[in-house]
Amino acid sequence: MATIKAKEAAKSTDFETQSAESVLKWALGTYHPKIALASSFGVEDVLLIDMMVKINPAARVFSLDTGRLNQETYDCMDKVREKYGVRIEVYYPNTEAAENMVRERGLNLFYHSIENRKECCGVRKVEPLNRALKGLDAWITGLRRAQAVTRTDIKKVETDAAHGGILKINPIADWTTAQVWDYVKRNKVPYNALHDKGYPSIGCEPCTRAVKPGEDERAGRWWWELPEQKECGLHVKKATGRD
Ligand code: ADX
Ligand code: SF4
Repeated sequence: MATIKAKEAAKSTDFETQSAESVLKWALGTYHPKIALASSFGVEDVLLIDMMVKINPAARVFSLDTGRLNQETYDCMDKVREKYGVRIEVYYPNTEAAENMVRERGLNLFYHSIENRKECCGVRKVEPLNRALKGLDAWITGLRRAQAVTRTDIKKVETDAAHGGILKINPIADWTTAQVWDYVKRNKVPYNALHDKGYPSIGCEPCTRAVKPGEDERAGRWWWELPEQKECGLHVKKATGRD
């Protein structure tokens, strides 16, 4: 649990006017080693890894390997390990829960109902996330407001009520897609090859597809569901902002 002093400091600082680098510097300086980036190895996350290791080469990164990711994502993970020398803390689904789910409902259960889709995300992402966050005072994400209707009100620093009140740091909450790619090109950040194949947003292989020109950034994620339902449970609305 974050110390009261650090939480008070977070409350009284206006992070919204600060750059992503400043927010990260403050967060890593205050909470390392009890702070880590959640990385799906989409472009936002590799960009943040680049920024973080320049501030602290020992900055921590974890990733939830659902067992259903694209090969391009695993390739990107390895490229990032090699280039930055970061140890990626990989979390897998609980074996028994995954086995029971697949035996009961099949491997492609997510296409059959929203309930099934949420069950799969629960087993493959949400439960492993809860384990990854145990013992942390803060976590960092690559969330941006422009990504989805479900994300328009995220703050750069917020209290994550859904995860025991630890801090959730979203350093690039206010960045546009153009800003993301500008940073990546300027800093020669290695990125997931799926981005060059029409994927603006990257998740699990069976639940993500390329988008057509002009389509929304997350149109290829769970494309059979409505936009306001498209959250997997990693980022739940219980987060209340800084309290
Ligand atoms: S998701 O909730 O719909 O899957 P999205 O793919 O947009 O989220 O990613 C938003 C942020 O959630 C990422 O920048 C990253 O911080 C975190 N995240 C998403 N998927 C993973 C994953 N598999 N492992 C670790 N972090 C993840
Ligand atoms: Fe399962 Fe699809 Fe969720 Fe991945 S995105 S955990 S495959 S339902």
